[in-house]
Amino acid sequence: MVIYLHGDMGAGKTTLVRGVLNALGYTGRVKSPTYTLVEPYHIAELNIRHFDLYRLHNEEEWEAAGFRDEFDGHNIFFIEWPERAIGLIPRPDLQINMEIVPHGRHVKIKACTPTGRKCLKPL
Ligand SMILES: Nc1ncnc2c1ncn2[C@@H]1O[C@H](COP(=O)(O)OP(=O)(O)O)[C@@H](O)[C@H]1O
Ligand SMILES: [Mg+2]
Repeated sequence: MVIYLHGDMGAGKTTLVRGVLNALGYTGRVKSPTYTLVEPYHIAELNIRHFDLYRLHNEEEWEAAGFRDEFDGHNIFFIEWPERAIGLIPRPDLQINMEIVPHGRHVKIKACTPTGRKCLKPL
């Protein structure tokens, strides 16, 4: 399951992931993976990877970090700044676009695969 998070700096991408993790029962701290590029979580029998690729510089860095191995079909991915890794990361099941508006945020969610549509249906 691959979820792309689009939106300007401060749009609320990390806050959304924090909300999902908390809703699943995670009580630890959810840090922004700004410098580590990825933070792993195991909660509710799910392996979740939260990427922030804003500071990803090139493909060599991606390979050296071993990120390719992360995408083995067993994890759920929330990816901030996916546009930095086009061609390296799988296509999304869901695309979430966040926009700052005067009294909060506008969020658009688009399902791109049958898996994505299944997730969107209850919403
Ligand atoms: N839905 C929201 N409504 C109001 N403020 C928000 C919302 N989502 C996030 N924020 C605030 O915006 C700031 C930046 O959010 P963050 O999730 O770090 O953004 P991003 O990861 O997109 O750069 C934080 O101070 C957060 O509390
Ligand atoms: Mg963020």
